[in-house]
Amino acid sequence: MSQPLSIAVVGSGYVGLVAAVCFAEIGHHVICVDNDESKVKMLREGRVPIHEEYLEELLKRNTTNPVEFTSDLANATRRAQAIFIAVGTPQSKTGSADLSYVDAVASEIARSIDSYKVIVEKSTVPVYTNEWIRRVIERNGVPKELFDIASNPEFLREGTAVVDFLHADRIVVGAETERAGTLLKKIYEPLTNGSYYKKADAVPGICSEKNPPPILLTSTKAAEIIKHASNAFLAMKISFINVVANICEAVGADVEEVAKGIGSDGRIGPKFLRAGIGYGGSCFPKDVAAFRYVAEQLGVDFSLLKEVEAINEEQKRRFFQKVRSALWTFRGKRIGVLGLSFKGGTDDIRDSPALDIVQLLVKEGSTVVAFDPAAEARSKEVIPPSDKMLYVDSPYAAAQDADALLILSDWQEFADLDLKKLHYTLRYPIIIDGRNLYDPVDMIEHGFTYLSVGRPSLFHARDAASSSRQLP
Ligand code: UDX
Repeated sequence: MSQPLSIAVVGSGYVGLVAAVCFAEIGHHVICVDNDESKVKMLREGRVPIHEEYLEELLKRNTTNPVEFTSDLANATRRAQAIFIAVGTPQSKTGSADLSYVDAVASEIARSIDSYKVIVEKSTVPVYTNEWIRRVIERNGVPKELFDIASNPEFLREGTAVVDFLHADRIVVGAETERAGTLLKKIYEPLTNGSYYKKADAVPGICSEKNPPPILLTSTKAAEIIKHASNAFLAMKISFINVVANICEAVGADVEEVAKGIGSDGRIGPKFLRAGIGYGGSCFPKDVAAFRYVAEQLGVDFSLLKEVEAINEEQKRRFFQKVRSALWTFRGKRIGVLGLSFKGGTDDIRDSPALDIVQLLVKEGSTVVAFDPAAEARSKEVIPPSDKMLYVDSPYAAAQDADALLILSDWQEFADLDLKKLHYTLRYPIIIDGRNLYDPVDMIEHGFTYLSVGRPSLFHARDAASSSRQLP
């Protein structure tokens, strides 16, 4: 094993908490700092505020080398060799990233530096943020030789964040000095030299002792751009396939066949070509807007990203129209909804297209009966329960006596539902699937009217007669 280092991680949100727990998992001494005392207390008790596979288990497992949780940033700064800033960078009104939390943390760190530290940005930030952090720290009177700034963006997906961290496609380290680069390389050494994967209880994934993740050393600016450009590119892939799906719908082709055909080209790749109701979450919408803003500020025309955003909005509207085309009117209809989170496997509802669609349905006068395996509590904060918005505790309860069932997040357990049971539970066997979870042939065999995205609409015999007369 490599030598353990002392690391502070500032912020215990998705990125910070996962990084803190994973740094401890690979052997380092970790102090995780958050200014929210109630969160610190909860984490000290071993309770995890987010739904993330392996996180709670790893937190409890590392009892000999536990992550220390504190709200004392000054003390953590003094004790750490590297300080990772993983605080939020929310979207401001202009679309740019609001860096006030990063600014505040940098000033506080500066006031406590008494020996050499590497300050690492881990939050997704626009290019030049490292320069701003440097200025803030210098402005607070810290001599140049006492610190370096580095950029180490995170590419983790919610739901699989721990696995993504420990089995990364690549680790990107942007550093301007050799000593900062060397320290970061040491931090990741248990992964990059493969030793972590030899541990009997290592979290399983694509990397192994023989196939460890590569580390890419770049400039800090390049590292910052890599993060924004990666997310913008993936969002673009999704918008691209969504438009292709709309073309498929217009001509009666199947987008799944088309996605397989184009994704088999090694230059394109099969991932992130799933058509649906558009992307959401805490990263893609915010990062596409922030990257577009960065380009604008630099005088670079990146209107391509505006199109990516416009297509994403349009995709929700189209889905809503599809529901309308199946139900005609909304007032007085009971609509079952499966999935409220922005994707399956997470309780996160930030920028969730599912919630946008639910809000529209309620506004139009429907009664929505919703089930989500993890996002109910968070959804209730945005759409409180009422006689028009009911939350239930199983998929079948959502389907009970409903005029139609909508699939809005891609949870595996929805794909595994008992279709026979679903059929007799619904008032009308109509499923409108925004995530293409089912095989259309299977659905028609089970007697459903089945509408999905970018695939031919299949009407049950009873609905077929009326649907053959196209109504506006
Ligand atoms: C994303 C990036 O994948 C990750 O690298 C980055 O660090 C943070 O942002 P995340 O937001 O957790 O991760 O979700 P992701 O799995 O990428 O999905 C984002 C959105 O795109 C979801 O709403 C998802 O449903 C949608 N999506 C994804 C599609 O509609 N089609 C796809 O093919 C893939």
